[in-house]
Amino acid sequence: MDFLNTCRTLVDTELDRRIASQSASEQLQEAMRYSVLGGGKRIRPALTLAAATALGQSIDVALVPACAIELVHAYSLVHDDLPAMDNDELRRGRPTAHIAFNEATAILAGDALQALAFEWLADAPGIEAPARLTMIKELARASGHGGMVGGQSIDLESVGKNLSLAQLETMHRHKTGALIEASVRIGALTASGVSERSLTALTGYAKALGLAFQVQDDLLDIEGDTDIIGKPQGSDAARSKPTYPALLGLAGARKHLAALLDSALESLQDFGPEADPLRAMADYVVARTH
Ligand code: IPE
Ligand code: IPE
Ligand code: MG
Ligand code: MG
Ligand code: MG
Repeated sequence: MDFLNTCRTLVDTELDRRIASQSASEQLQEAMRYSVLGGGKRIRPALTLAAATALGQSIDVALVPACAIELVHAYSLVHDDLPAMDNDELRRGRPTAHIAFNEATAILAGDALQALAFEWLADAPGIEAPARLTMIKELARASGHGGMVGGQSIDLESVGKNLSLAQLETMHRHKTGALIEASVRIGALTASGVSERSLTALTGYAKALGLAFQVQDDLLDIEGDTDIIGKPQGSDAARSKPTYPALLGLAGARKHLAALLDSALESLQDFGPEADPLRAMADYVVARTH
């Protein structure tokens, strides 16, 4: 997908440049770079750049906020893979951070990446201070107990339990949806004077897409190939995780995914071609093979 490929190059270059500065510990620095660079589809930063594009903002201005969101995502993966959480040894086709380094270093690298994300947002060039403050709040809310971390907690508490569809959706909306929603909203907030109406439409798009993203992730855990997905296939079933396919069956989960795609695209109906990158991202997220 052209837009995503362009974004990936920009984001990878910016991340590489920005995480080059000296840390107090060389090992920590190395673990941070290992966890962020070298792989990753960069879907969240691409969504930030696509939302900015939909509102006529330049990609340059949205790039640092986009990279800040990827730092939170990378930290969430490092912690998600830890022995105390999903206990996975493969991520992005390479050993997970706690395998490549050690558990304590992986925990600390995650902690440091999270803090760095907020430092970058606070300093984002070309964006007025009030908008930066709003972005910091958006990312903090999406990352914390009311968002991703809250969802991860529900996930771990739900192992081996039979969740209802409503409970499963709540879990997914938090653990994965919140950060995807923040990615789109922060992209929109880079455009000064974004209207409430546009922000509401884009939020509707992001909510549907955030859920769709995790449904596809659950499907790939069953149908994917370890070599292609770059993480251990079958990890959810092995750990008795509640997932959409576990609850609805493969066909049911696929049908749900298609409905979520329709809903995401419908939210963009008032936008013209400037929202085509967002439309393409939605198509990509539900059809992705890794
Ligand atoms: C994986 O996210 C974790 C989930 C939230 C399901 P991605 O599939 O975006 O992972 P990378 O960044 O491309 O490795
Ligand atoms: C994790 O969900 C979502 C995060 C907040 C990191 P998963 O546990 O399903 O993600 P993968 O499959 O390990 O990437
Ligand atoms: Mg997990
Ligand atoms: Mg996991
Ligand atoms: Mg998964």
